[in-house]
Amino acid sequence: MSATAAINGKEVFDLLRDDLVALEGEFGRDTVSGVQAITEIGEYLRAGGGKRIRPALLLLSAKLLDYRGQGAVRLGAVVEIIHTATLVHDDIIDEAKTRRGRPAANTQWGNSKCVLAGDWLYMQAFKIAVQERNFRILDTLIELTQQMVEGELLQMEKLGKSITLDEHFDLIFRKTACLFSVCMRLGAILAGATPEQEAALGQYGHDLGMAFQIVDDVLDLTASEDVLGKPVASDLREGKATMAVIHSLERCTPEERSKIETVLHHGAFNGVTHADILEILHRYGSLEVATARATKYAESAQRAICTFPDTEIKRALLWAPEFVVAREK
Ligand code: IPE
Ligand code: IPE
Ligand code: MG
Ligand code: MG
Repeated sequence: MSATAAINGKEVFDLLRDDLVALEGEFGRDTVSGVQAITEIGEYLRAGGGKRIRPALLLLSAKLLDYRGQGAVRLGAVVEIIHTATLVHDDIIDEAKTRRGRPAANTQWGNSKCVLAGDWLYMQAFKIAVQERNFRILDTLIELTQQMVEGELLQMEKLGKSITLDEHFDLIFRKTACLFSVCMRLGAILAGATPEQEAALGQYGHDLGMAFQIVDDVLDLTASEDVLGKPVASDLREGKATMAVIHSLERCTPEERSKIETVLHHGAFNGVTHADILEILHRYGSLEVATARATKYAESAQRAICTFPDTEIKRALLWAPEFVVAREK
């Protein structure tokens, strides 16, 4: 992909270690409320871990431009808290039982408390962001949160219905790529980037986010729950046709289409097995087509930052797309 000397995941983690420790501290302090249920749910979610890929991107973006202040850790916590809030709400909407290898919060506290905890987390994220006293940061975060909520709603309206690839790409932009792009742009804004630098970093985040979600959707079809830490084949059961499925639906026989649609429409594998669906996807090379698309986005992300000078931080940013495409969870 790139001629720059490679860096591995451990080296990237070492580069960010101190900041990621500070981020956990910030996240922990930020999710304490006078109301015990909120603190408990917040702590449960924080302790559940997660890859922390979004704050890592924000930190790398700020560092690429030599930012030295405390704002990157604070805003790193902000984007991770927003991400966490969307996951809490998403698991309620999707009736998911597992998240990050543990029972999803909704199964422990029930939907009502988790809706409110999610709302509280969104507002807490904005409260921390306000500390930067920067309207562009607030504008960016408000726009982002609305895009994400709109994405969930549009997805809901499309459940069990046929969807074009363009519509699907719009959904994954709103659900995932928008936040990745915002993480990169927030790092740039903190560092006082030029408009060109901010646009390049935002493009990188967008392309990386698109690759990330396409891979996530492929893993939902191909991985095991043990490895993934969340239910598999859930998109089909939830009525969501993702890229590989859309690709097969556009090519398959009426019998094959009716198998796929049985699962999409009934929310269960009624008489059709997960293996039946995989067989169809393999027949049309659909998983490979989706993976190839993710790889293209990953390469495009790498190209977006080609004009920045060669530093360790840039190498870490060149590594991330490789990680996203190769990941197993
Ligand atoms: C899950 O994101 C939601 C999607 C956008 C697919 P991650 O896979 O980054 O979740 P965690 O934070 O690592 O659990
Ligand atoms: C992820 O959506 C939630 C958002 C990014 C809003 P999904 O429902 O596709 O993701 P998982 O599979 O539950 O993590
Ligand atoms: Mg969902
Ligand atoms: Mg979900």
